[in-house]
Amino acid sequence: MPTYLDHAATTPIRPEVLIAFTTALSSVGNPSSVHKFGQEVRNHLEAARESLARSTGANRSEIIFTSGGTESDNLAIKGLYWQRSWADAERKVIITAATEHHGVLDPIYWLADNQGAEVEIVPVDSRGVFDLGWLETYLAENAHRVALISLMWINNETGVIAEMQTITALAKKYEIPVHSDAVAAFGHIPIDFASSGLAALSISAHKIGGPVGTGALIVGRSVKLTSLVHGGGQERGMRSGTMDAAGAQAFALAAELALRELPGEAARISALSEVLVGQILRIAPDAVLSRGDANGLAATVHFTFPGCSADSMIFLLDAAGVSVSAGSACTAGVNRPSHVLLAMGRTEDEATGALRITLGYTSTRADVDRFLEAFPSVHSAAKKAGLPSK
Ligand SMILES: Cc1ncc(COP(=O)(O)O)c(C=O)c1O
Repeated sequence: MPTYLDHAATTPIRPEVLIAFTTALSSVGNPSSVHKFGQEVRNHLEAARESLARSTGANRSEIIFTSGGTESDNLAIKGLYWQRSWADAERKVIITAATEHHGVLDPIYWLADNQGAEVEIVPVDSRGVFDLGWLETYLAENAHRVALISLMWINNETGVIAEMQTITALAKKYEIPVHSDAVAAFGHIPIDFASSGLAALSISAHKIGGPVGTGALIVGRSVKLTSLVHGGGQERGMRSGTMDAAGAQAFALAAELALRELPGEAARISALSEVLVGQILRIAPDAVLSRGDANGLAATVHFTFPGCSADSMIFLLDAAGVSVSAGSACTAGVNRPSHVLLAMGRTEDEATGALRITLGYTSTRADVDRFLEAFPSVHSAAKKAGLPSK
């Protein structure tokens, strides 16, 4: 069996979740129908909403089921921008960071290209940490022009953790809504929407052992969003379309299991991560841990290896039965230097040598050992091959 160390790309569906999901898929009934079949499915859907609300510290009415993180990000960003800029034509500015996932960056730049939005970028340091002093100064002078802030909770490539409470406290002074992409955070750290100060928060099922194609946007009760999709008015009118009750049940169960295991898992994963980091630095002393000494998620081990190409390392590791990635899952099979690393001030050559090893609930010491067995020869072969010619 090949060793899977790419949990940040997607996590294997949990066996209990698979059973619950396939069982739910065989139930017939549209949750909006008034007959028994419909009402039974509706009851299951609402129980899943209640459960996911408990897992996220939200109110049940704040859970809007979607098709995943990308849709949730789009709904939050476009929905908030339209509400705010239509209510006040001066509010055109969206504040974000260049290290965000494309699920956040692309809708923002789409709004800039097509809807008159202005983008302001929070600088990050070489570890990927947001410069909140910049944010404070910017808001003090320009808050009246800001439509929203969107900053991720944990970076999916480097694992760096943001000071979300400080961000929302700064925005609160000016009543600016903050959205956070918590796709890489939920299930790994406790999330309490009620005390987070956020207006909206994106999560996705397949990152925590649920099925691909299910997610949620948590939207504060007093927050108004313009919907992307118009139709039957489901999900508080924010996301029309027949609700995916089976996906919602699977997502809620995956969240419940991940959170129940979290205290024990955090310690177990931390220990595995420590071995990985220590041994990688022994094998390749010139390797650079991307988030440096910043507060980060142990499950995400992200290094750059000077003079090596990620493509060579990934290919050779794959041949040795170990699956890792360069950063976020590549587009159309082509790895490009990560925009996250470039935003952190790394050169293209440095970013070319990035490897992300991500642990999850199935990861064992044997997986780590298998990686560490294969890595010395992979690293020296990649070093010998050098960087691809431009
Ligand atoms: C931080 C982050 N945001 C958004 C997404 C997109 O989520 P989904 O695959 O559910 O659309 C991902 C997935 O890679 C992610 O890591």
